[in-house]
Formats: sequence, structure tokens, C-alpha cells
Amino acid sequence: MKIAIFGTGMVGQALSGKLAELGHDVMVGTRDVDQTLANTTPHPYGFPAFSVWVKEHPAIKLGTYAAAAQHGEVLINATNGNGSLHALQLAGEANLNGKVLIDVSNPLDFSQGNPPLLSVANDDSIGEQIQRAYPQVKVVKTLNTVTASLMVDPQQLAGGDHHLFVSGNDAAAKAQVVAFLKDEFSWKEIVDLGDITTARGAEMYLPLWLRLWGALGTGVFNVKVVQ
Ligand SMILES: NC(=O)c1ccc[n+]([C@@H]2O[C@H](COP(=O)([O-])OP(=O)(O)OC[C@H]3O[C@@H](n4cnc5c(N)ncnc54)[C@H](OP(=O)(O)O)[C@@H]3O)[C@@H](O)[C@H]2O)c1
Repeated sequence: MKIAIFGTGMVGQALSGKLAELGHDVMVGTRDVDQTLANTTPHPYGFPAFSVWVKEHPAIKLGTYAAAAQHGEVLINATNGNGSLHALQLAGEANLNGKVLIDVSNPLDFSQGNPPLLSVANDDSIGEQIQRAYPQVKVVKTLNTVTASLMVDPQQLAGGDHHLFVSGNDAAAKAQVVAFLKDEFSWKEIVDLGDITTARGAEMYLPLWLRLWGALGTGVFNVKVVQ
């Protein structure tokens, strides 16, 4: 399948690496291709610059957000939450319309230091902002509640016996995304929270996620919902 992944960070690398390994035709989108390829500085969190990392993944294409959006039959938003609407604007509405957009972003605002605040919460979410801005795009919020490595390899914890959430207005798009997550990444337990307004809960989980990260000393953890 032709897949576009908007975002060159830790999540963009994890998702594009895994999907290319599975044989998908992946194009990663960025603001400025030349600048992204010229940047060789490792990220402060320890993962390599995209330009260095992609040399080990030669099948992965890099393009502008617009080129990636044109390429993708399925789209994944793995941009910084505060830049997501800008990234999609650069991608171009005509290139997005009618497609499923898996939204992995979180509204983390580091402008006042650590821990970050949420730039949108309570009565709105990035998932809803994207859906409102692009009514003909089928936005499905998911994967934002787990760290990048776990997104593509849930089996590394408890045999995959832990939960992921999906939110979105289009039932068929959600079903397609659930099947994709199960088939490509081997997710077993996925709770459909409801329409895109339920992305609020998934995004507002982040303050707890960040405190768990601090308490546990690792980002490789997840929640299991028991009844
Ligand atoms: N890191 C994780 O494990 C994790 C887990 C769950 C969810 N998330 C969420 O997933 C998203 C990606 O996270 P990340 O850690 O991989 O990377 P990130 O540093 O949050 O985002 C990097 C990407 O955002 C793009 N970007 C930043 N500002 C932009 C703007 N104003 N306009 C357009 N594009 C902009 C960058 O574009 P350029 O390529 O042009 O620089 C880059 O591709 C975030 O929303 C994050 O909260 C992350």
C-alpha cells in the first residue's frame, strides 16, 4: 500500500521503518526536504537525525508534505501537535480529501518548560481540530497513548495483552484502521471510544502518561483495561 507519514521525528521513523519493512511504499513528509537532509544533529532524546537514519532505510522516500500527501492512499499524521494544522495546510486539502488520516499527534506545549501543558483540552482536541478543518478527511485518532517503539511492536510487552484506543466519526475508516493496526503491528486489544470528540480523553491522558514515564523510568509501558 502507498502510505504517507507526515513527520520525521521518533514516531515518523518508527512507523515508516516498520511499514517499509513490511513491504509498503512509504513516503515521509517534511517542511523542507533539503533542510531535513542537511540536518545531521541527533535528537536530544538520543535518536538519530532523519537524514542519518534514512540511510539505513533506503526504500523510504522523503518529500514535502504535499508530495507525501499525493503519494499516500493512507495518511499518518506524526507531526508535532502544535504544528499539525500547519503541516496539513502545507499538504494541501485536495491531496487529503477522501482519505483516511491516522492522527498520532499530542497537544504538548513545552513553551513554559517541563512537564508540558496541553495546548488544547477539555472541550476540544487536535483530532477534532483536524476533522473540523478537513471535513472530507476521515480522521482516526489512535497510537498517541503509547511510545513510538510500542506503536509498531506491542508484543514486546505482556505478549501484547494491553490496550490501544481509536476515535473517529467514520465507522468504516475506524474499522479499516483497526484492521491495519492488527494486521501490520499485531495489536490485539483495541477499544473504540466513539466519535472524534473522544480524542479529548486520549489526548488528555498525556499528563498521566508523562508522570508514569517519570515514575517508571521508561516510556515502554501501557495500560490494560479490565472490567
Ligand atoms: N515520541 C513518541 O514516542 C510519541 C508517542 C505518542 C505520540 N507522539 C506524538 O507524535 C507526534 C510526533 O512526535 P515525534 O516525537 O516523532 O516528533 P516531534 O518532534 O513532536 O515532531 C516532529 C515533526 O513535526 C514537524 N513539525 C514541527 N513543527 C511544525 C510546524 N510548525 N509545521 C509543520 N510541521 C511541523 C517536524 O517537521 P520537519 O520534518 O519539517 O522538521 C517534524 O516532522 C507528536 O505530536 C507527539 O506528541 C509521540
